[in-house]
Amino acid sequence: MTGLVVLEGIDGCGKSSVARIVAKKLGKRAVLTREPTDSWIGEAVRKGDDKKVSPYTDALLFMADRSIHTLDMVDLIKKGKLVVCDRYYHSTVAYQAAFLKSTFKGDVFKWLLEANLRLSIHPDLTVLLNIPPELGLERIRGRRALSRFERLDFLKEVHKNYLKLARQDHSIVLINATRPLAEVSDEVLKLIRGRKL
Ligand code: TMP
Repeated sequence: MTGLVVLEGIDGCGKSSVARIVAKKLGKRAVLTREPTDSWIGEAVRKGDDKKVSPYTDALLFMADRSIHTLDMVDLIKKGKLVVCDRYYHSTVAYQAAFLKSTFKGDVFKWLLEANLRLSIHPDLTVLLNIPPELGLERIRGRRALSRFERLDFLKEVHKNYLKLARQDHSIVLINATRPLAEVSDEVLKLIRGRKL
């Protein structure tokens, strides 16, 4: 009973709340974690909202944070824990591909995916909480100051990238996250239990 479950989706899809509910219901064997992490590299990533950072710096910081986080998650899995991770490499592919699209010479989606697969492990289950970008933005508006990633055109591009990832990787399960939180969480729990994780 161990492994890695990743929750993904655009801002406002509810994944952080779902991750919390699911980890709580799974009990002691579950460890809830997230990216960007709370480490000093994760903090550096968050500082990108206040400081002017190049999109490349952003992408590389997210990946540096992930490469250490992956080692921590591997340790937890070896100890028999079920790790529930709020965002993983799919986020970098979806968000940074959107961010770098206009400046990158070549296929930025492919570049980011290949680089990230090298420093990540393959999740036992990845759930993509799917909502229309308009709804995502509506949900987060007023919650807090919007980050540099939270604009409608940009979120539409991110959403497209997520759907592209799901088309390419059939281990990603797409679920309708426009429903109430309790329903979405129950579905994720059912998926985890169905896989005997
Ligand atoms: P959060 O709102 O889930 O805490 O994520 C913080 C922001 O960082 C969110 O807008 C998505 C963005 N992000 C990326 O752009 N790339 C990444 O690799 C990760 C993990 C998050």
